[in-house]
Amino acid sequence: MTDPAGPTPKETTSYGDVGFSRFLRGVFLSGAGFDNNDLDRPIIGIADTSSDFNPCHRGVPALVEHVKRGVLEAGGLPMVFPTMSLGETLLTPTSMLYRNLMAMETEELIRSQPMDAAVLIGGCDKTVPAQLMAAVSSDVPVILAVTGAMLTNSWEGERVGACTDCRRIWSRHRAGELDQGQIETAQGALATTSGTCMVMGTASTMAVMTETLGMMLPGGASPPSPTGERLRHAVATGREAVALAKRPILARDIVTRPAMLNALRVLAAIGGSTNAIVHLLAVARRAGLDIALAEFDAAARDTPLLVDLKPSGTGYMEDFHRAGGVPMLLSEMRDVLDVSTVGVTGESLDERLAQVPPLPPWQTTIRPWAQPLSAGGALAVLTGSLAPDGAVIKVSAATHGLLQHTGPALVFESSADAAARLDDPELEVAPDTVLVLRNSGPVGAGMPEAGSLPMPRRLAEAGVKDMVRVSDARMSGTAYGTVVLHCSPESAVGGPLALVRDGDLIRLDVAARRIDLLVDQDELARRRKTYEPPPVATRGWRRLYSSTVTQAHEGADLDFLRPAPHLSTEGHDD
Ligand code: FES
Repeated sequence: MTDPAGPTPKETTSYGDVGFSRFLRGVFLSGAGFDNNDLDRPIIGIADTSSDFNPCHRGVPALVEHVKRGVLEAGGLPMVFPTMSLGETLLTPTSMLYRNLMAMETEELIRSQPMDAAVLIGGCDKTVPAQLMAAVSSDVPVILAVTGAMLTNSWEGERVGACTDCRRIWSRHRAGELDQGQIETAQGALATTSGTCMVMGTASTMAVMTETLGMMLPGGASPPSPTGERLRHAVATGREAVALAKRPILARDIVTRPAMLNALRVLAAIGGSTNAIVHLLAVARRAGLDIALAEFDAAARDTPLLVDLKPSGTGYMEDFHRAGGVPMLLSEMRDVLDVSTVGVTGESLDERLAQVPPLPPWQTTIRPWAQPLSAGGALAVLTGSLAPDGAVIKVSAATHGLLQHTGPALVFESSADAAARLDDPELEVAPDTVLVLRNSGPVGAGMPEAGSLPMPRRLAEAGVKDMVRVSDARMSGTAYGTVVLHCSPESAVGGPLALVRDGDLIRLDVAARRIDLLVDQDELARRRKTYEPPPVATRGWRRLYSSTVTQAHEGADLDFLRPAPHLSTEGHDD
């Protein structure tokens, strides 16, 4: 029998007797079938986010097996551990409420378990941001991999996929254009393989951001979930994790200010999800980087839209992958990126891009820098009397004619209020009305993706496809429309959105980067005297969350989790 008190890596469980702690660890690892030959190897923790409640992750078990194979081939010992898994469509009230909990849980599991490096497998919207936040807060080297996107399908003769088409088809159903039978066949046709939404929604955006930052192997963001290439990437990730354990580069050495500024530019070039703004702000703050909301606007202003994917364009992730994926896009953007940044492989971006071939002439998904889909400004950051600390709008998915608009407000107190009244045939609403949703920010409701309120049924049936909508909520990355989001400070902490009344005029002027409530200050001061904040959660996670979450322009992280302890001037807390 091997010496159970032999190699037992890392710190030990606290029993007050280090020798006994090592002995006991050896006893239980022996019982699990490990000997010293195993435990002499670099131990690679693999975060398993498979869950029956996360359909987007149904391919994760196969990825775990392939990462394990790569680890074993490279001489490491894979140790799989479960973490939370956030399935976007099955969590109430919103997965965003749990992003920080998953980040905290993942960080603590990396910190407290004896591993030399970790592979984190994410995919669905909030999982990758949570893992990035955990990674930059950890003192263990981390490499990320993703599930990859679903493949597209065909429905009634048209190419469809999750979930920009889900929204478009549902809008047609609401407008009376599609009957119940059609909506039922559409339900079975929109998400037909494993993987994440295959448009440039939040999952795809965050996969692209992760590769751009250098936190995954080059080429890892885009292979579709059901393909052998996705499995081969998992094997390569396992091998790389062992190399990473031997020449540790920490995530905070990779997620630097230049790397983050590269990501902001790429976010604009892909017409990425507005959710990425909140997530990148949180990751940056965890890394001790002072990235401001205004820097997203600056990056977007002079970065053209280069990737033709829904909802800003026409294609899907598999098209992006065939066109060359992130390496091809970064190569096309080379002149505006800082190529001295270093990724998990230790290579600089300059070295990575040296291996990328020229843009293939047969594809149209990734556009040359000189022939973009549209000029700069796919995303815009607004300020004004309705959002003193900022708000965002996805210009590339908005209606051009509404980007400068003044109209009367129609206020909804919550998503439930909107759901209850939007179909009311008596609702006093016109196409120029500005729909206002409040109490949907981080403190108010965990910041759900409720900002893209549906068209009031009466207007939808009359053919109205878009209206200006303003809220402190978020919007799905797969959604589209003239939707002003993330108004900060939010209404539940007394932000100006709380003072809006039906009929008040609201002016949106994207060219001037303004969103304003056209009500005089005296009247607003009178309203503020009678303002009552909504009740907050009284127990459990929701109480901790609502009492410590920061505002959207700060990343909506918990205030005690940033910056990471190793970056704090207060030093370690453990
Ligand atoms: Fe999981 Fe879209 S619902 S990625």
